[in-house]
Amino acid sequence: MTVSKQQKFWNRIAGRYAARPLKDVAAYDAMLAEVASRLKPSDKVLELGCGTGGTAIRLAPHVSSWTATDFSAEMIRIARDKPAEANVTFRLADAQNSYDGGPFDAICAFNVLHLVDDQPATLAQIFANLKPGGVFISKTWCFADLKLRFRLLFSVLRAAGLFPAVTQHTVAEFRQSLFDAGFEIIDERVFGKYRQNPYIVVRKPEA
Ligand SMILES: C[S@@+](CC[C@H](N)C(=O)[O-])C[C@H]1O[C@@H](n2cnc3c(N)ncnc32)[C@H](O)[C@@H]1O
Repeated sequence: MTVSKQQKFWNRIAGRYAARPLKDVAAYDAMLAEVASRLKPSDKVLELGCGTGGTAIRLAPHVSSWTATDFSAEMIRIARDKPAEANVTFRLADAQNSYDGGPFDAICAFNVLHLVDDQPATLAQIFANLKPGGVFISKTWCFADLKLRFRLLFSVLRAAGLFPAVTQHTVAEFRQSLFDAGFEIIDERVFGKYRQNPYIVVRKPEA
């Protein structure tokens, strides 16, 4: 299987990513509590871009099954080495090809949708693989809302191979993409201090 430049980037930094301390533990815990409040014990959940699996491991006890996917073999290897409930499965898969076992009651994508190659196609896949009434819960960086000096800094880091390629959209444009995919927004808030990284919950209409 060919490993893309993007996968190589995440494979290379996976060890450091796993070792980094969480920047804002209170915000992360508050977000997990909010996600958990939306899930039912009978739910079948899919998480895209799960990284080293910490979120999956914390939230899996609230649901029936939690399938966590990531396109980085190194991220998945680290995730599989962690102790987890028996209802968690880690799978190596791109966000475009992660939907075996669907449809799902909930799909989650934390800090990943700005990284996928084709965001509208990924949103269409997410929509298609949710049950009617199912929720898509995301937290997504909206780089176009960052101050110019930060955007310039990230461009330099990207050119040096120290930062991945990202979709540059505003929060308003991201909301519009969710609408365009067919979702209705049921909640939006910010956990932590970056309004450019909103947490958004959307629902697939019943029919
Ligand atoms: C910023 S990390 C976020 C990890 C985790 N969700 C979190 O919030 O800590 C982004 C993750 O998305 C994965 N990723 C990036 N592009 C992806 C894609 N197209 N399909 C699947 N995973 C992807 C990377 O390998 C990495 O593990």
